[in-house]
Amino acid sequence: MKRELVVVIDFGGQYNQLVARRVRECNVYCEIYSYKTPLEKIKEMDPKGIILTGGPNSCYEANSPTCSKELFEMGIPVLGLCYGAQLMQHVLGGKVEKADAREYGKTALTHKNNSILFEGVPESSTVWMSHFDYISKVADGFEITSYTDNCPCASCEDVKNQNYAIQFHPEVLHTEYGKTILKNYVMNVCKCSGDWRMDAFVDEQIKQIRKKVGDGKVLCALSGGVDSSVAAVLLSKAIGNQLTCVFVDHGLLRKNEGDEVEAVFGPEGEYDLNFIRVNAQERYYEKLKGVTEPERKRKIIGEEFIRVFEEEAKKIGKVDFLVQGTIYPDVVESGLGGESAVIKSHHNVGGLPDVVDFKEIIEPLRDLFKDEVRKVGLELGIPDYLVFRQPFPGPGLGIRIIGEVTAEKVRIVQDADAIYREEIAKAGLDRTIGQYFAALTNMRSVGVMGDERTYDYAIALRAVNTVDFMTAEAAQIPYDVLNKVMSRIINEVRGVNRVMYDITSKPPGTIEFE
Ligand code: XMP
Repeated sequence: MKRELVVVIDFGGQYNQLVARRVRECNVYCEIYSYKTPLEKIKEMDPKGIILTGGPNSCYEANSPTCSKELFEMGIPVLGLCYGAQLMQHVLGGKVEKADAREYGKTALTHKNNSILFEGVPESSTVWMSHFDYISKVADGFEITSYTDNCPCASCEDVKNQNYAIQFHPEVLHTEYGKTILKNYVMNVCKCSGDWRMDAFVDEQIKQIRKKVGDGKVLCALSGGVDSSVAAVLLSKAIGNQLTCVFVDHGLLRKNEGDEVEAVFGPEGEYDLNFIRVNAQERYYEKLKGVTEPERKRKIIGEEFIRVFEEEAKKIGKVDFLVQGTIYPDVVESGLGGESAVIKSHHNVGGLPDVVDFKEIIEPLRDLFKDEVRKVGLELGIPDYLVFRQPFPGPGLGIRIIGEVTAEKVRIVQDADAIYREEIAKAGLDRTIGQYFAALTNMRSVGVMGDERTYDYAIALRAVNTVDFMTAEAAQIPYDVLNKVMSRIINEVRGVNRVMYDITSKPPGTIEFE
């Protein structure tokens, strides 16, 4: 059976991956291509629909990204979003002009006739706008289907030729009925059946990886985090023992984490990863001796990682490909959109490309969001507790210990954190809190235990809820849970006599406690 495909044509907008994601949420496979992709190539793919994305340019300016008129005449339904909508009108003979004022943010929209795109959408709803230019005259054959106070044409369509233009952004969550609108396009206009699932993504990636790698050798830095684990297992399914995975235990992992990672991915586990564990704890502690400044710690940890990895890579000999678990938010964070894409060294394994002699980087998860990566992980049979693991920074506990890092302090924070995680899970809160962990403050204070005076450390508990990790609120953990955690930490972790709960939001705080 032929796979249904919707092609997203990238004009440099910031929400392009979100568009693709919304299509995938309709269980329809979706790929993003640059606007420079030849029309012939798009035709060959025989897509069920084509979506033109937003972009920062003005379509009437000479060197702006454009497309040919033929794109709209192939009988394939085209949906233009924002810049894509304006470009569609411009190319087909409508008029796009600079507006008096930029329309930005949540805006009230009214749709006025029975457009198939607005099926199930109330006559008035909120949409997300972000544009300077506006469509002042629609092209022949188009009918305006919605408007806002400042935008006479918020959407229009030429049903006969199957061309649809939307000025607002249905892909962002601020557009109340955005998902409905995109679903209407994918299912009712493009007539997709929606039978694609993540297993199809896995099959597709495996095929592509095999084709690319041939009989080459592949090296992967496995951290045990979700992204690199999923990438490694995907690679191992595709190319078996042509893959070697190096796991560096820097001694700054959570309690028992090194052994857990080894149990799943090592020789006793069920995957064929040529797993190499490097126990580099002592090296790291040595390098971190006397270092208190957080940025310096990060730097040292990062550099040491590269050194250890380099040594291992040398032992393996020539490799052809390097795998990275880069996911889409990493691409965004480093300011790289599809249109300006260059290879980014993932912040967890930063700098690796420079020290390993290889032909190419493989990033099989590059187009996916975190929850999609998790779906792939489940599809690959990776255990739940690894798939739903919370984010853990590359520098590990090194940045959850204020002041100098020592083996003793690592032990304290590991033990406290393990208790905290255990109690949060027992209380059934582990899947509801965005990120939570214990950190070791550098503060010691007087306490009394039994009949003795103590002078010990204070543990800080952190728990935040966040959508995008850019902003966050402290989670409101029930007091009895906090109380239990406090009591267990004080009783079970030697060297701690106070427990505090950090209620700072981000901003002004950060999520990590360093
Ligand atoms: P902050 O502390 O900046 O954290 O609010 C935001 C998110 O990023 C994670 N984080 C890191 N991840 N290397 C990483 O791989 C790092 O150096 C690093 N610093 C922070 C943090 O855990 C949170 O999820």
